[in-house]
Amino acid sequence: MFLTVEGVEGSGKSTLLTALAVRLEARGTTVLRTREPGGCPLGARLRPLLLSADWTPDPNAELFLFLADRAQHVAEVIRPALAAGAHVLCDRYADSTIAYQGYGRGMDLEWLQRLNDCATGGLWPDLTLVLDLPAEAGLLRAARRNEAQGLSQTEGRFEAESLAFHERIRQGFLDRARRFPGRFRVLDAALPPPALADQAWAALRMGAH
Ligand code: TMP
Repeated sequence: MFLTVEGVEGSGKSTLLTALAVRLEARGTTVLRTREPGGCPLGARLRPLLLSADWTPDPNAELFLFLADRAQHVAEVIRPALAAGAHVLCDRYADSTIAYQGYGRGMDLEWLQRLNDCATGGLWPDLTLVLDLPAEAGLLRAARRNEAQGLSQTEGRFEAESLAFHERIRQGFLDRARRFPGRFRVLDAALPPPALADQAWAALRMGAH
């Protein structure tokens, strides 16, 4: 089972993934929890480059760095874990490229879909949970978190984009969910974390159809 969690900044992906991993492991399931960018040694080196607020890459360079991270991550981490029978829980994946580089930066959506296919060898999740939240509320949460953890400069490049950019991303995820209703579930990220985890758990147990 390959599960991804997507959403705007500050939507609570990481808290939810922790809760899901605990529930799955309590049931005896082997879980591999990972993330993009940064879920493999190459990605760990690319993540600071991609997220640092100190520079502005060319949009194509940014895109290909995310795809390079994904290609290596799929080959080195995700496919082997799935082959070994683990449940893979991934914080962001190919749908983030469609939302951020497509809806956010205006790149062609079909082209991005093909590039994602190329990078992943056609591996798409069984289930994708979208944590939906107004972009403004998410950005506030993310700014507080980054400040508390001292990440504003090292990881804050996307958070510093305009509110309109982040609203396009929110709409991008919702459009994807409408387009692929069998794979996506949209959850209300404004719910208290335990209630959100219950809804995600129910979606996971039903699986994708
Ligand atoms: P996060 O891991 O803290 O959510 O941060 C990752 C950031 O990178 C987030 O702002 C979304 C962005 N991103 C893209 O723009 N494209 C991608 O393909 C991925 C995986 C992430």
